[in-house]
Amino acid sequence: KNIVILISGRGSNMQAIVKACQQEQWPARIAAVISNKADAGGLAFAEQHQIPAIVVPSKGAASREAYDAELQRQIDAFSPDLVVLAGFMRILTPAFTAHYENRMLNIHPSLLPSFVGLHTHQQALDAGVKVHGATVHFVTAELDHGPIVAQAVVPVLDGDDEDTLAQRVLVQEHLIYPRAVRQFIEGRMTVEGNCVRITAEDA
Ligand code: GRF
Repeated sequence: KNIVILISGRGSNMQAIVKACQQEQWPARIAAVISNKADAGGLAFAEQHQIPAIVVPSKGAASREAYDAELQRQIDAFSPDLVVLAGFMRILTPAFTAHYENRMLNIHPSLLPSFVGLHTHQQALDAGVKVHGATVHFVTAELDHGPIVAQAVVPVLDGDDEDTLAQRVLVQEHLIYPRAVRQFIEGRMTVEGNCVRITAEDA
């Protein structure tokens, strides 16, 4: 199976997935890492691991539609079974999300449906919630919606700021995202409406 990972920045989730794929010998390969930013830190890691690291620059694109069409063309050159968004900081067009329906995952740093969009850790602090976390979900046309695959919960502690909270959540992201990708690759994930069912490894 072929996995294409999209990033915009440091790519720590991408790295966790690449490492798990190698160490756990998934029946899959990371076919490419694609970034919309040339200076994304994660590109170097991909290159070091002999993974094609491609930049499809979003800066200067004629329109959102034109950009997504080009991005889709570049992704599909790798015949992906799964597209993984890992800190890919773009709003996606409905045509793009429809094309990858039920085969594109995202990780969002909050317990969805709470705190969509940006600055999720600050949103959580401002709301005064006592637990926070991360969500892996299938991507649909609506931002940070779509069937939920996995969630991890962390406590919000007295004295937390955006950074300490983000760090605690990120540790969990690196656990739940590779696990979810593996479950998909192993064909253990089925989507029924809003609900995702995951069958056991030996079922
Ligand atoms: C993560 O917090 C992820 O949940 C969010 O963006 C951040 C990306 O971090 N979508 P990284 O690039 O994977 O290190």
